[in-house]
Amino acid sequence: MKTSLKGTLGMAAALAGLTLGTGLMAGEDDNLIVNEEIEMTVRAPAPEHVDAFDTIYSGWVFRSDETQALQADDFDNPAFVFVDTAIDSWNTVDGTEGKSCASCHEDPMESMAGVRAVYPKWNEQAGEVRTLEMQVNGCRTEQMGAEPWKYDGTDMVNMTALISVPSRGMPVDVSFDGPEREMWEKGKELYYTRTGQLELACANCHEDHYGDMIRADHLSQGQINGFPVYRLKNAKLNSAHARFKGCIRDTRAHTFAPGSDEFVALELYVATRGNGLSVEAPSVRN
Ligand code: HEC
Ligand code: HEC
Repeated sequence: MKTSLKGTLGMAAALAGLTLGTGLMAGEDDNLIVNEEIEMTVRAPAPEHVDAFDTIYSGWVFRSDETQALQADDFDNPAFVFVDTAIDSWNTVDGTEGKSCASCHEDPMESMAGVRAVYPKWNEQAGEVRTLEMQVNGCRTEQMGAEPWKYDGTDMVNMTALISVPSRGMPVDVSFDGPEREMWEKGKELYYTRTGQLELACANCHEDHYGDMIRADHLSQGQINGFPVYRLKNAKLNSAHARFKGCIRDTRAHTFAPGSDEFVALELYVATRGNGLSVEAPSVRN
């Protein structure tokens, strides 16, 4: 099976003018300790529901030494400029109720500890699976009387980075056997559905070929424990949905919009593939 998929991908790669080769994992044995304090779990036993491999790896493992080093210290991590911006917005009053996030949640380093690790999460009151972005906009519209932020706009992605900081080092622990199950199944189906001119599913790249080189890039397992990520390529923070969009575009397929039901389902499913890795966000990638 692996051989025939490799054949398919090889052909698809040739079609797209991609170069595909086998590479060694850049930092297979490296460990990540942030600020000489937070020990990250960058490899862990695969969750039971993942059949394709025994070990899951953070995307950090596949990056070059230079990129890896940027994540080891918050003073070097370019994402923290944006976290600072989000602290200002956390404290800024907005909307008809005259409230800021701080009015209700006080210090994010305390009130938001553990939150990133369990999202996306079923919201009983709303009767829906909510990503962190949806929850933030829920607070803006329902609690503050403020306009929702653009789903993958700057204000939002910076805020989700800030909210992630106090969960760093905690294991991702996203549920999928409760009322969120239906969305999870939908996400799983999307993960394995071949799309686009290249007829590639997420799994064809991130399950069958992680560790290989594609277009001079080192393929990871496509985990989202590091999201939002600062990308050297566009010098800003990027949401998981923006990344999904980019990956689907690369298969020459029509893609879904950030915040769409499809991407919420996909995020839920992909998040559970990383259960056991550390929350690393905001991380640094190329
Ligand atoms: C043609 C191969 C290909 C397909 C198909 C593909 N990706 Fe990717 N993806 C890549 C490459 C190349 C990268 C950049 C290197 C890396 O981080 O793996 C990447 C990166 C990612 C990342 C960033 C990981 C990190 O740690 O920063 C995520 C998340 C991701 N992909 C998810 C997906 C999802 C979900 C799908 C299906 C909708 C998908 N990808 C389909 C090639 C692919
Ligand atoms: C008027 C009070 C109020 C304001 C202002 C407010 N929130 Fe909330 N927030 C809540 C309440 C109440 C909940 C829990 C109930 C719920 O799930 O909606 C909550 C839940 C959350 C959660 C989910 C926490 C969890 O454990 O799942 C996040 C994240 C969050 N808020 C972020 C924000 C951000 C960011 C802002 C500012 C843009 C903000 N909130 C403004 C009242 C507020």
